[in-house]
Amino acid sequence: MLYLNNIMELLGNSIQIKEINQIIRQVAPTDISVLITGESGTGKEVVANCIHEYSKRKDKAFITVNCGAIPEGIIESELFGHQKGAFTGAIENREGYFEMAAKGTIFLDEIGDMPLATQVKILRVLESGEFLRVGGNKNIHVDVRVVAATNKNLSQEVINKNFREDLYFRLRLVNIHIPPLRERKSDVKVLFEHFIDEVCKKNGIEYRGIEDDAMEFLINYVWYGNARELKNFCESIVVLNPNKKLALADVKKNLHSEFTQPRQLPAVPLITKDYSEKDLIMRALFELKSDILDIKKLLKYKDNEINSIQTDSDFFINRDRIKNMDDEEIDKEILVYLLRLHDWDVKKVSDNLNQTPRNVYRKIKKYNIIKNF
Ligand SMILES: Nc1ncnc2c1ncn2[C@@H]1O[C@H](COP(=O)(O)OP(=O)(O)OP(=O)(O)O)[C@@H](O)[C@H]1O
Ligand SMILES: [Mg+2]
Repeated sequence: MLYLNNIMELLGNSIQIKEINQIIRQVAPTDISVLITGESGTGKEVVANCIHEYSKRKDKAFITVNCGAIPEGIIESELFGHQKGAFTGAIENREGYFEMAAKGTIFLDEIGDMPLATQVKILRVLESGEFLRVGGNKNIHVDVRVVAATNKNLSQEVINKNFREDLYFRLRLVNIHIPPLRERKSDVKVLFEHFIDEVCKKNGIEYRGIEDDAMEFLINYVWYGNARELKNFCESIVVLNPNKKLALADVKKNLHSEFTQPRQLPAVPLITKDYSEKDLIMRALFELKSDILDIKKLLKYKDNEINSIQTDSDFFINRDRIKNMDDEEIDKEILVYLLRLHDWDVKKVSDNLNQTPRNVYRKIKKYNIIKNF
């Protein structure tokens, strides 16, 4: 479980990556827990590793736990250990990952997949550093730094009641979000060169370069599988085209996207903490509103058009109005908003909500939403 990697920082020329490297250096020496979010393959594990490497804990253990891969029935004994006789098969006392990581770092990967009952216990460790072994009655105190990662949209998971709000707010005090590769095109070349170099050294291949138009194509490619997809691509292209300068045709031939769309939506960052679910939803709505305004600005809409959008969506974020709504009304309000935002493209709306299009159609019918805008 000990993680070894010689990469000491995220590679990339983009402002986003430079900022992330800076945040890593700022937070690494502290004991603050960090939540890393981003689509699959964006480099979350690299960030977790860097945080540990730059911390005073670097000579102690770095334990990675893939929360999504451990069956629900055993995750607590894996994390917190168990006492002899706690359950059938517990023939001796056993320490869990938290104890193994003492004075070091524990990396809770895929934390969005952690069962709700275990989430309460993680919160307790974060707040007091204490936990009980399964079947034990003695509080155990550990000094462990917690770093967590997910490619899920945790605020949405909170709304869907799959993730505890209190743990979410506790974790996201420091949230490092890695944007998808397609939003930081200036990183593609650096990563490409790095991965090509790695694979060539490993396989004793001499790299003969790449044509400009082929590089341009790679830079503008969507990379839904992010850096991981680029790395896999680099491995296959140089092995399949040894001793030649890579041309556009070679690139296109080897570029069969592993993914047809992003694996997960980026987390919607909320602004403040400890609020009720309604407040949480309202804040998410405020964020959506500012997103749409930003997009419009980016598209260089004229001032008066931006204003009209602002007025237009004001009906929807009226605080008092939303406060008095029940859950179904809020659900309907969000749906109407997204339908308007995506011009009734149900596929996009369902992607946004992380639901099936069929479910969205069912809701449109249930709430009797009529296209009158
Ligand atoms: N900025 C980067 N610099 C160097 N290597 C990177 C960078 N980003 C990603 N990689 C490499 O890409 C691969 C995928 O990264 P990583 O495993 O950290 O992604 P992830 O976000 O944890 O993905 P998942 O959600 O699927 O677990 C790894 O081999 C990693 O070393
Ligand atoms: Mg990972």
